Amino acid sequence: MQVYVYSDPNTACKAAATIFASTLLEKPDAVFGLATGSTPVPMYQELARMNREGLIDFSQCRTWNLDEYVGLTGDHPASFRYFMDDNLFHHINIPYENTHVPSGVAADMKKEAADYDKAIIEAGGIDVQLLGIGNNGHIGFNEPGAEFVWETHTLKLTENTRMANSRFFEKLDDVPTEAITMGIGNIMQAKRIVFLAFGKAKAEAVRGMVCGSATPSNQSSILRMHRNVQVFLDKEAASLL
Ligand code: GLP
Repeated sequence: MQVYVYSDPNTACKAAATIFASTLLEKPDAVFGLATGSTPVPMYQELARMNREGLIDFSQCRTWNLDEYVGLTGDHPASFRYFMDDNLFHHINIPYENTHVPSGVAADMKKEAADYDKAIIEAGGIDVQLLGIGNNGHIGFNEPGAEFVWETHTLKLTENTRMANSRFFEKLDDVPTEAITMGIGNIMQAKRIVFLAFGKAKAEAVRGMVCGSATPSNQSSILRMHRNVQVFLDKEAASLL
């Protein structure tokens, strides 16, 4: 695990964006695993800028997102599909059909999850997986628990996570209680992982990830077992290391 500490989130995001950019230059049809949340927004803006200025081309790129709320359609402003369209896909030249976000409203969620895993394998696996982290150490929506779940699955969100994400909804009651997320196996099978965390609220979880042993009570801690992880932090997120 390589850990880089930057003065501020914007600088960290610009540095992280260079990994996605250089991957695209080497492999124009690269497969990216993408994440939502406020953390990666400046990185997405930087990639959009590079695309606009003709430095990188997304026309053959394929993306699979980590997760989605169960019960929200893609046109709901708090859905992760809406977030990705709004923050990245509508600002780069990626063919829309190359972008994938799990459906939160599939009639058969088990089939949706299995099909998602199958599609990633058929695409050749993820070249670079982007990750943020929840205050409780979750990656994707893999919440703290007694085990690591390997495949894409649906799960019940913790109250802690619902509360943290309520800022994207009108009120706490509107935050869905369930989500569909890539499993820990999908993430661990990525060839390379780019991890971002900013702010004091993430410092404890980041300490568990970088300094602790692998435990499902902090799902991010399994990343220590991956051979190619780069961690981009600001000073506050790194303050307990
Ligand atoms: C969400 C997502 C995660 C994300 C995390 C942190 O719930 N499922 O993929 O990393 O919360 O979000 P933020 O970057 O807004 O702090």
